[in-house]
Amino acid sequence: MSGKTIWFTGLSGSGKSTLGNALKAIFDERGYPAVFLDGDVLRSGLNRDLGFSPLDRAENIRRAGEVAKMLNDLGNIIFAAFITPLESIRTAVRSIFKPEEFVEVYLHCPLSVCEARDPKGLYANARKGLIPEFTGISSPFQIPEHADLIIDTDRYSLGQSVEMALDFLENRFPEFRNVTHKKLKRHLRQRKVAVIGLDCAPPSIIFDESIDLPNLRSLARHGVWGPLRSTDPPITVPAWTTITTGRDPGELGLYGFRNRLNRDRYSLVTVNSTHVRFPRVWDHLETHGKRCVLIGIPQTFPAGSHSGVTISGFPAVEDAPDFTFPTDLLNGLPCLGNAGYVADIKDFRALQKDSLLSALYSMVDVRFKVARELLLKDPWDFFMMVEIAPDRLQHAFWGDYDRSHPSAEPDSRWKKVIPDFYKYLDLKIGEILGLLDDETTVIAISDHGAKSSTGGVCVNEWLIKKGLLTLNESPRQETRLTEEMIDWDKTYVWSEGGYYARIFMNVQGREPRGIIKSRDYEAFRDNLRDQLVSMPELNGERSTNVVLKPEELYRTVNGVAPDLIVYLDGLNKRSIGNVGLNSLVVKGNVGGLDSCNHDHDGIFIATRLHDLRRGLKVNRNISLASCTDVVPTIFSEYGFKCPEDIRGNVITLGAEDVIMTANLEVEKPVLVVSNSNREGRGFTKEEEEIVKKRLVDLGYI
Ligand code: ADX
Repeated sequence: MSGKTIWFTGLSGSGKSTLGNALKAIFDERGYPAVFLDGDVLRSGLNRDLGFSPLDRAENIRRAGEVAKMLNDLGNIIFAAFITPLESIRTAVRSIFKPEEFVEVYLHCPLSVCEARDPKGLYANARKGLIPEFTGISSPFQIPEHADLIIDTDRYSLGQSVEMALDFLENRFPEFRNVTHKKLKRHLRQRKVAVIGLDCAPPSIIFDESIDLPNLRSLARHGVWGPLRSTDPPITVPAWTTITTGRDPGELGLYGFRNRLNRDRYSLVTVNSTHVRFPRVWDHLETHGKRCVLIGIPQTFPAGSHSGVTISGFPAVEDAPDFTFPTDLLNGLPCLGNAGYVADIKDFRALQKDSLLSALYSMVDVRFKVARELLLKDPWDFFMMVEIAPDRLQHAFWGDYDRSHPSAEPDSRWKKVIPDFYKYLDLKIGEILGLLDDETTVIAISDHGAKSSTGGVCVNEWLIKKGLLTLNESPRQETRLTEEMIDWDKTYVWSEGGYYARIFMNVQGREPRGIIKSRDYEAFRDNLRDQLVSMPELNGERSTNVVLKPEELYRTVNGVAPDLIVYLDGLNKRSIGNVGLNSLVVKGNVGGLDSCNHDHDGIFIATRLHDLRRGLKVNRNISLASCTDVVPTIFSEYGFKCPEDIRGNVITLGAEDVIMTANLEVEKPVLVVSNSNREGRGFTKEEEEIVKKRLVDLGYI
């Protein structure tokens, strides 16, 4: 194909570079050799001897035109973004090219709008007189008289401008037919996203080159990768729910597996899918006709009805009819044979390490087998699975793996269990990748990380010692603290244990038997915070605690948030909610097996298989991804606009810093899906007991 040059003219800030880059990216994606030439870039090198006088501008554009022509003659498609302010200069540059290889596109945008955008802050300086001869301010911009296409960039979005430009280019150059927006839209329609979640997988393992994880490594090499900042708190629920809604725990009103549902009660209840008040990413996608396959995602029990399939995830009750959607989903799966599906490890604490390990391998086998079968069974557009096994594995074996763990045994026969298990998971991920086509973007992700747990702080015992919590009777042995055990008329503060401490204050008029006057609330809380930061009573146990107020953490604080959230010793220590321990600290492993605490950073890897299979080494390491960025990124992969009140960022994927999807808006607006048909289902009493026991087993309580 012969080369073409698309010359953008327009004021600084009119969108020349943005549109030029977006078009270049689309041509790239479709396999055309495309080049983007930019005024600023040429002026910093080839043309650095030139200024902004009319003569210099003419010379600047002459050279730029000659460069474009050379590249053009090599068969490239050039997108050139230069102000090109004078008609004489435009005529001159056009004359370098053959008529059939050059078009002029004028990006029309009022000076006032360009000035308001002022992306480089130049207009402000020009107004102050700091930049002489500034186009539009102190140097003329003549309205183009011979533009082949005019786009009003103040009226149209980038997506619309891209479409207009593609339409025009297709008409002008029939050889571009297969790059047009129709093709692009069809291409976007074929796009799929497959999310493979590994609960608790830490960057220290996944990105450790010495552990042989060829599939994950290859995804990273050909994609974007880095740590993923978990939610506060870094806990499975709400982290996965943030990942799947784009809403932080404060917006969700979900601060852990168990939450106070209202202020009338002191006690917490375990939450499930019916407590999620925002649409999940698949609810949005289904309004666009996408079919979703969902496996093992935390907080999806009970499974709601939708156009795809769901096997719900932790905390779930496998025997309940709404464990899956449709109800008989698992009955119909040949791969299961007589073996049952395993949602999670039962009796986690009771198992010996050998049996636990073999149960973990079987669970992974079954889940990936089912995943493969569901991927092949019916066409799908969005796939997401979460494997809970790494979390369970690490809680049991971290002390054997991490040499820095206080109870590490150098010769533990279990010391390679964790890396070996990850190698197996990597193999299973490879089997899934083999079933995905080039149009799929794969996101491998974990909700939080892992680190050694060096013991626990008995926060309620500490509160008792300080006279802030009073029990009706002193327990003779270690006991779980319940609402009934507390003398509320003498209690100011109580705490929930787990991987972090949640501190609740007993406030007059807010709690049923509150005693802290509401006017004293802030002063009391600040004082408590100061004491919680250092906890000098721990006698020599150095503790530098992070104590956070919910309103500092979240955009909004819905539901019943704890008054303070405490990370003990930077998450090295657990929070023990039990009472009757006769001690303020617990050393070593907490609750038998548990040598692992949650850490803030999980992992994020996102790769377009198209890039991987073309061998394109994108290999972009990013450091700032967070759980709220996942939904916008998934949306952008489909070319959908993300609902505006989701505040996360799109993580740009692919080979270039591309807007391949160019934010092409979809025909239909995103609908907010109501969960109302499932509201209030909660857990039944029996289910609550089953689930609570598991949470205790797993150290969440
Ligand atoms: S042109 O007028 O010769 O076509 P060109 O597109 O190469 O200009 O460069 C314009 C860029 O130079 C602007 O986007 C801006 O970043 C920078 N610039 C610096 N000084 C000026 C100025 N006086 N007028 C316009 N742009 C300027």
